[in-house]
Amino acid sequence: MSQHALRGMNDIRPPDISIWHEVEKCAHEIFPRYLYQEIRTPILEDMSVFTRSIGDTTNIVEKEMYVFQDRGGKWVALRPEGTAPVVRAYIEHHGNPDEVVRYYYMGAMYRYERPQQGRFREFHQLGAEVLGISSPKLDAEVIHMVDVFFKHLGIKNAVLEINSLGCPICRPKFLRAFFDFLHKNEDKLCSDCKRRMEKNPLRALDCKNPGCDALTREGPSIHDFLCEDCEKDFDTVLETLGLLKTEYKVNPKIVRGLDYYIKTTFEFTSNALGSQNAIAGGGRYDGLVRLMGGPNVPAVGFAIGLERLVDIIKAERNLTAPVLNRKGLFFATLGEKALQKALVLAQQLRNANIPVGLDYEGKSLKSQMRKADKMGAEFVMVIGDSELEKNEAQLRNMSSSTETTISLDQILQALQSIPA
Ligand code: HAM
Repeated sequence: MSQHALRGMNDIRPPDISIWHEVEKCAHEIFPRYLYQEIRTPILEDMSVFTRSIGDTTNIVEKEMYVFQDRGGKWVALRPEGTAPVVRAYIEHHGNPDEVVRYYYMGAMYRYERPQQGRFREFHQLGAEVLGISSPKLDAEVIHMVDVFFKHLGIKNAVLEINSLGCPICRPKFLRAFFDFLHKNEDKLCSDCKRRMEKNPLRALDCKNPGCDALTREGPSIHDFLCEDCEKDFDTVLETLGLLKTEYKVNPKIVRGLDYYIKTTFEFTSNALGSQNAIAGGGRYDGLVRLMGGPNVPAVGFAIGLERLVDIIKAERNLTAPVLNRKGLFFATLGEKALQKALVLAQQLRNANIPVGLDYEGKSLKSQMRKADKMGAEFVMVIGDSELEKNEAQLRNMSSSTETTISLDQILQALQSIPA
């Protein structure tokens, strides 16, 4: 039986891989401007890193984590998200709670979800976390950075939705009122929301079931319960976003699918995607470091779903058919001596960063020209006995169909003198 990748897991291949490279390069360029440094954490962590942080009554912990016992009998999990590992690493490596730490990361995450368009079991996130600053102005700046990043990639259709979830002082009052509302309307809730209603009523606000969604829109709003501090902080976030010219929509239903958030929560969505329209999500999670055994350090962050981001870039650039971006040179050779010469010349050009292709099998010229075309070579040079004798050959530009005679010792100089 032939082998296939696991359901919900994908090979990322050309031509898409070049968009992935572009996105990664853009992150390495933009995030350090805001003083973020890259961190790479292990894909596998002790299971408790996630169960303690994300919350037992979230979909991720209840149904989606890849969990197993390793050969030593330890319960481990493939990371379903990047925040908890970063907090674990912060606690492990940073002793001083007054130090501000800014990390960004990229990598594969794993959730055993039902795969569909834009929803996978292995997917990739690009995220960032700031530990050590409680100012709501930072929340706005973090959100603004995501906006700047999207704009750099040419994304026009991202919409920012923002909310405040309150703090441990005001949220319980809202939760009580919201629970009473759910309790009165229990018959309209899905079985998951009914089951979680008592322990975690907020999950109903995030539920995708149309009945739960319609019902919760009529229920009490967190904004009627925010304490003075939370209201002031939320106003500061919105004001600062205005100052930084980042447009937003306030949406009291943005509660997020993870339990660690307080105060600011946000999502970026795009109408270029199908039903899985969230490209990024994040918020403030001031209690998490302490909950995971560290000092009482405030924190805020976000993660962008890279598969969805790449899909949007493709859709917005209308990249259904790959654009052939010709580059490099192909040596078509006639005879063993010519091939040997080409092998040596190829190394010189590759050392100068020029992609070079060759035929190693003595195929016909026609077949070699087909290979050059498949490679997308910008130039082709045919070398046979007479070229070797004269030590010069024709350099053919495949885009303009022009030819120039070049000394075999001067190919690199000739290519470098051609304007890009
Ligand atoms: P999240 O909303 O669970 O947040 O995930 C962030 C983004 O990852 C989503 O907006 C989506 O684009 C992408 N994503 C999530 N699940 C899948 C999936 N199954 N297939 C494809 N893409 C997916 C977090 O993970 C938080 N750690 C974000 C954060 C960082 N909050 C604070 N700091």
